[in-house]
Amino acid sequence: MAKWLDNAIFYQIYPQSFFDTNGDGIGDIRGIISKLDYIKDIGFNALWLNPCFVSPFGDAGYDVSDYCTVAPRYGTNEDLKQLFEELHKRDMHILLDLVPGHTSVEHKWFKESMKADRNEFTDRYVWTDSIWEGPEGMNNIRGISERDGCCGVNFFSHQPALNYGYYKVTRPWQMSPDDPGPTATLNAMMDIMRFWLSMGCDGFRVDMAGSLVKNDEDGKGTIALWKKVRAFLDEEFPEAAMVSEWGEPDKSLEGGFHMDFLLHFGPSHYNDLFRCEHPYFGKEGKGNAAEFVSRYVKNYEKSGGKGLICIPSSNHDMDRISRNFDIEELKICFGFLLSMPGAPFVYYGDEIGMKYLENIKSVEGGYGRTGSRSPMQWDNTANAGFSSAAPEKLYIQIDPDKDRPTAQKALADESSLLNEIKKLIEIRQANPALQSNGKIRFVYAEENAYPLAFIRSLDGEEILVVINPADRECGFDLDVTADKVLYQRGKVTAENGKVTAAAQSAAYIKLK
Ligand code: GLC
Ligand code: CA
Repeated sequence: MAKWLDNAIFYQIYPQSFFDTNGDGIGDIRGIISKLDYIKDIGFNALWLNPCFVSPFGDAGYDVSDYCTVAPRYGTNEDLKQLFEELHKRDMHILLDLVPGHTSVEHKWFKESMKADRNEFTDRYVWTDSIWEGPEGMNNIRGISERDGCCGVNFFSHQPALNYGYYKVTRPWQMSPDDPGPTATLNAMMDIMRFWLSMGCDGFRVDMAGSLVKNDEDGKGTIALWKKVRAFLDEEFPEAAMVSEWGEPDKSLEGGFHMDFLLHFGPSHYNDLFRCEHPYFGKEGKGNAAEFVSRYVKNYEKSGGKGLICIPSSNHDMDRISRNFDIEELKICFGFLLSMPGAPFVYYGDEIGMKYLENIKSVEGGYGRTGSRSPMQWDNTANAGFSSAAPEKLYIQIDPDKDRPTAQKALADESSLLNEIKKLIEIRQANPALQSNGKIRFVYAEENAYPLAFIRSLDGEEILVVINPADRECGFDLDVTADKVLYQRGKVTAENGKVTAAAQSAAYIKLK
């Protein structure tokens, strides 16, 4: 049952910005293959690849128009298959990005469903039965075809919502999840999963997984839907891993996902850590992690103490983690991220402290997110080694800073963030209590206070993690006996009933 997730550490690749091998200014799959050793050498053993399928790219590929074909700009299905093989040779795994909630308006299902005459795809999307009635609680597309109705959209106005039914049916045009239309949609999605899993893909990161069934306040309809997917996977692909973009691990795990993402919006308080006026991880030491922890613990308890909550460093939807921090602060951030339960997810470029590019023009529906999607900086050659194209041909401009970080510099510098991450990963991989399934118990997470401390444990092994981002010494009472210091950045001691953490320090201390 996807055992590999137990010690998975993910590297997220935004394919268009990683490495371009044919000089068209856009990253490609062959580029990813050629950089696998770089990724593996840092210690990552898994990838999440953002959507790489045929698309008009109105939302950077989250608007799919053919789920089973790699977008020509990234290569071919053969290339992707080769990526699977090259990963497996290195004992690595990959999650593709499944976007089950909506398609692009160019998908042939949608073109068929716009027709006034009934056909196989009439019920594939959420349509009302009159152009004058929009689906409640959703934006919609209307007046673009002869079909008399409005089609609900999930995100941008060019992303029509696929029809998985309504949990509570209140209008004549709404279907129940078990009706033939919604059932056919789900079957089509399972066929797509079957297609890639048979080719060697190891599982999926599922986009907006919690919002498929409509009018489903408690998520019961959507949970039931994912349970059907779970049954299908258990039967045909028991090793396939499923990670959801849902933000409610109790629901997501009940639906059969293995792990759930912590979201940067909604009630998680994740932004208190890295992205607010006084982030907890800032050295000024004016942050507050207590609300984050209290939320986290509630979710942890609701999901039966499994804690399979994945905390990303950044991703393609949020500002890069480096926006508020310097390299020393970032090292402490990673000391935290790499000691939490669930699989860590590191966004490409975060390992070298790549910058969020301020005020750049939106590309492919990125808007403010575009600044986090700029090309990976490899070395000091033209275009930072990303591409041989003319600079104006690049997918997104490169960070213009002449001192921009590069992988080459980071690899050569023993004290770089990259090398710190490498060390942290090595320690995590040598100590199962620090990995995905180790339990967590917070021992110090007070309001507006430093440090943050918790104990990770598994099979009798116990590790105390102390994280002090603040630029001042801090401590708290705790009666434990240190056995061995596994990791230490700045001095941290646990003796005589007290834990003391030097300014800007982090430590993993084995207790048992
Ligand atoms: C998810 C993706 C985001 C996309 C949206 C719509 O949140 O991460 O990039 O725009 O879904 O598919
Ligand atoms: Ca290319």
